[in-house]
Amino acid sequence: MNGTEANFRPARRIEDLGVSEILAITAQAAARRRDGRPVIILGAGEPDFDTPDPIKEAAIAAIRRGETKYTALDGSPEMKRAIRDKFRRENGLDFAQNEVTAAAGAKQILYNAMMASLNEGDEVIIPTPCWTSYFDIVRIAGGVPVALPCDAASGFRLTPEALEEAITPRTRWLLLNSPSNPTGSAYGEAHYRPLIEVLHRHPQVWLMVDDMYEHIVYDDFRFVTPVALDPSLKSRSLTVNGVSKAYAMTGWRLGYGGGPAALIAGMAVVQSQSTSCPSSVTQAAAIAALDGPQDGLATRRASFAARRDLVVDALNAIPGLSCRRPEGAFYTFASCEGLLGRATPDGRTLKTDREFCAYLLDAVDVAVVPGAAFGLAGYFRISYATSREELVEALGRIARACSQLTEGREP
Ligand SMILES: Cc1ncc(COP(=O)(O)O)c(C=O)c1O
Repeated sequence: MNGTEANFRPARRIEDLGVSEILAITAQAAARRRDGRPVIILGAGEPDFDTPDPIKEAAIAAIRRGETKYTALDGSPEMKRAIRDKFRRENGLDFAQNEVTAAAGAKQILYNAMMASLNEGDEVIIPTPCWTSYFDIVRIAGGVPVALPCDAASGFRLTPEALEEAITPRTRWLLLNSPSNPTGSAYGEAHYRPLIEVLHRHPQVWLMVDDMYEHIVYDDFRFVTPVALDPSLKSRSLTVNGVSKAYAMTGWRLGYGGGPAALIAGMAVVQSQSTSCPSSVTQAAAIAALDGPQDGLATRRASFAARRDLVVDALNAIPGLSCRRPEGAFYTFASCEGLLGRATPDGRTLKTDREFCAYLLDAVDVAVVPGAAFGLAGYFRISYATSREELVEALGRIARACSQLTEGREP
């Protein structure tokens, strides 16, 4: 440790936080790859498609027009117009210009909202397993994340009974994500209605919904967003979305939200002292994505659907693993509980999902993320946003690694 590091005293708000386990695993896998090992990384939270050309062209044209300066704080008027049109066209939601906001990713939207609304000790109810950032964003904002574990039997969905029981006088938000990262589970109208009824009994609780994977849904599942189901929620809800996953634009950084004007104004205060505004060039690209032809969505969805089936079928064919067929997103969340307690060829007993995932990386060079990282042990997440060839190879290797486990003896 050098002198500078020794003197650094971290702020209390980040003391217990670290960079995400997913990034750590990906970095470890990438290091092995640099050492010449044939590592397959099934950890990426981003589509493997390229950003469509018309979107790139719109950004290039914006640069040529000189749109390279600061824009309005939480989105240019044209950006907000495109967001409002999107909400109206795809979700039947009517927001005014001062009820929508744009930021550098849906992550910043969530961050702005928590920073703008939480006081020390305020509680945010978060069904788990969930995207890990939710917990840390709430903590940075001074809030208390309240995890509500959801099991495979309920499709990893929150039940109204569990919600009712978790609400306290300190509850500020219920945060829902459908389709979900990491499970791919989604809430249809029948799942949302009973939860909305509970919210009606608790008017002090606001609803934040993360619809990031709206366009990546399969079979006959019909995506809905709660405020469209019950417009009376509009005055206490924030509907969050973004272009990252739908249009393969993770690196561009543009997310957006719609909610009550007072909340949106509060979020602008937070943003004004952090990033000032989303990138002007990115806004031009995002406007083209939202306004442009949407037929690419179906093509990408069909490609993901075929890969989902490939992965789910292959996992369920491996003795000891079991995997629910997700309604959306590009992740599978399989149980490895049937293999815990077994021993590796070199005699180590696998006691946890973390040890199981470490074994896969070690034995067959496949990187996946343990369920514990998302709040549910005994599972692991595969991102199937990678080529079919790589998936087939990776699943063959996972099958081989699992078949080499033997009945272990606890030490
Ligand atoms: C559920 C969920 N919400 C939000 C995000 C963040 O998206 P963005 O790239 O817009 O910040 C992600 C990214 O992985 C996600 O999985």
